[in-house]
Amino acid sequence: KILNNYLTLKLYQFHYPFEFIVRAISIRMSLTSITVPTTPFGDQKPGTSGLRKKVAVFMQKHYTENFIQSILDAQKDKTKGCTLIVGGDGRYFTTQSINIIIRIASANAVHKLIIGRRGLLSTPAVSSLIRTHKCLGGIVLTASHNPGGIRNDFGIKYNIENGGPAPDQMTDEIYELTGKIKEYKITPDLDCDFQQPGVQQFEVDGREFVVEVIDPVDDYIQLMKSIFDFKKLSNLLSGTETSPPFNVLLDSMNGVTGVYVKRIFLEELGSNQDSAVHIIPLDNFGEIHPDPNLTYAKELVDKVREDSKFDLGAAFDGDGDRNMIIGKNAFFVTPSDSLAVIANNLDCIPYFQTHGVHGFARSMPTGAAVDRVAQKLNKEMFEVPTGWKYFGNLMDAGRLSLCGEESFGTGSDHIREKDGIWAVLAWLSIIAHKQMSVEEILKEHWKIYGRNYFTRYDYEECESEAANKMMNHLESLIDDKNTVGKNFTSCGKTYVIKQIDNFSYVDPIDNSVAKNQGIRVLFEDGSRLIYRLSGTGSSGATIRVYIDSYEKSETTADAQAILKPLVNIGLEISKLKAFTGREEPTVIT
Ligand code: G1P
Ligand code: ZN
Repeated sequence: KILNNYLTLKLYQFHYPFEFIVRAISIRMSLTSITVPTTPFGDQKPGTSGLRKKVAVFMQKHYTENFIQSILDAQKDKTKGCTLIVGGDGRYFTTQSINIIIRIASANAVHKLIIGRRGLLSTPAVSSLIRTHKCLGGIVLTASHNPGGIRNDFGIKYNIENGGPAPDQMTDEIYELTGKIKEYKITPDLDCDFQQPGVQQFEVDGREFVVEVIDPVDDYIQLMKSIFDFKKLSNLLSGTETSPPFNVLLDSMNGVTGVYVKRIFLEELGSNQDSAVHIIPLDNFGEIHPDPNLTYAKELVDKVREDSKFDLGAAFDGDGDRNMIIGKNAFFVTPSDSLAVIANNLDCIPYFQTHGVHGFARSMPTGAAVDRVAQKLNKEMFEVPTGWKYFGNLMDAGRLSLCGEESFGTGSDHIREKDGIWAVLAWLSIIAHKQMSVEEILKEHWKIYGRNYFTRYDYEECESEAANKMMNHLESLIDDKNTVGKNFTSCGKTYVIKQIDNFSYVDPIDNSVAKNQGIRVLFEDGSRLIYRLSGTGSSGATIRVYIDSYEKSETTADAQAILKPLVNIGLEISKLKAFTGREEPTVIT
């Protein structure tokens, strides 16, 4: 035993200096890049939010390399000497793809990569870091709310120097480059660990190349502290001598927000230890589908419904840009209402007191509740196509402060992405200010503004051909002179079509045009039906049907019951069942 201990000790003494020397040499040693011939893949067209495919697709030889090289080529001369942020939601294939990015970036004369520890950075944190460090852009490794793990999805998205997703012109250019790529540059011998914070320097082709690994939360928590009154929020969450703690339950769905929730809510704001679940990021999200809605965040909804101690529940998606808010007893706040309530109460948040409140915006299918707030507060209001990238120009031009999408996205001009944690902090600020429950706040809001009932039916993984045929059928109704003025009746309610079109948008800042953004059927009473094909799925086609109806008088009726006639009419107009063979949607939100 003594001999064994002695030998182990000697081995350690020998091993460490040896490893140290090897490391020191490898850092000083100049690495050389090579050029690898490749051929294009035809399918690298970024969708609503980056390129999303099954992991197996990204794992094909040259596939990820081609796409990364094309992203860098699209930046032209700006790549040389630039700094990029790299990180994502930690899903399967993150580590492998970061290794590829490090090797390709170094070979393409990028000067520095700033990478989240273990590759973790929420999408809003990437946006913030790009802005704080004044970088050329960032590469976000996520398929957002799509399931993760070796059998599921991976994604790569490029964000530009304002911190927001690349606009259409750039993603079109990246796609074009992927279609004609012949070679990529790579430094095959560059091994760089990114598990712990620190700076590592390399010499590649005689140039300096730096990798800085950072804590994923440090920059982001500073930003949140500059926006919200943390003292007030901490009093709310941890309670004071005169008021009991406000109990929240936050579900990170094993996505990246876990590390942010732990630091911000549990450590900084003193929220109860049992107020956060699924906070360890897992590469397959623990088989949870990390999409915060009533279907996939059911566990949270059930817990809050069953345990009356919880005053507010919130869930986030894999990369932390989406949020769902529910009140006591699981009182559901639609994202369209959430946006309107926040818009109506921005003055209680310090950031808006100093920066002012400019315009509001929502994506076209989002319920129009926020429009009424804009009208009352006399603010500019914008309706943009689906996808956060359409908000960026308006924010940069100082015309937009707050925006959102019905797909559980809310955010402001503090960054150029939607921001789940921000949304929860905004809600808590409003609650602390008004001293009212979530339900009371909503009811007061509806009393003032009336209520927009909203629901979305998703038909996931339909046959692409069937989905396209259905969209063509709807398109043909636009040209049909008999469509406008047509009556439809269901459950004793009659709706008359006032207008039908395919939404197109002209960006007020750069006049760029986005066409074919969804079929809109507008009725005489202001109700709307919208049909779109999803641009974020990785296989088949997902049909989204959005149903929106406005009631002027205060009403608290069940949304699904109120909207049923319009849903039936929506199915009748589109002939969805006949085209797809689907009897029921996969998800209702
Ligand atoms: C979906 C949402 C859209 C959101 C996008 C990225 O896109 O509908 O609002 O911006 O995810 O989170 P879709 O699949 O509908 O193209
Ligand atoms: Zn997301």
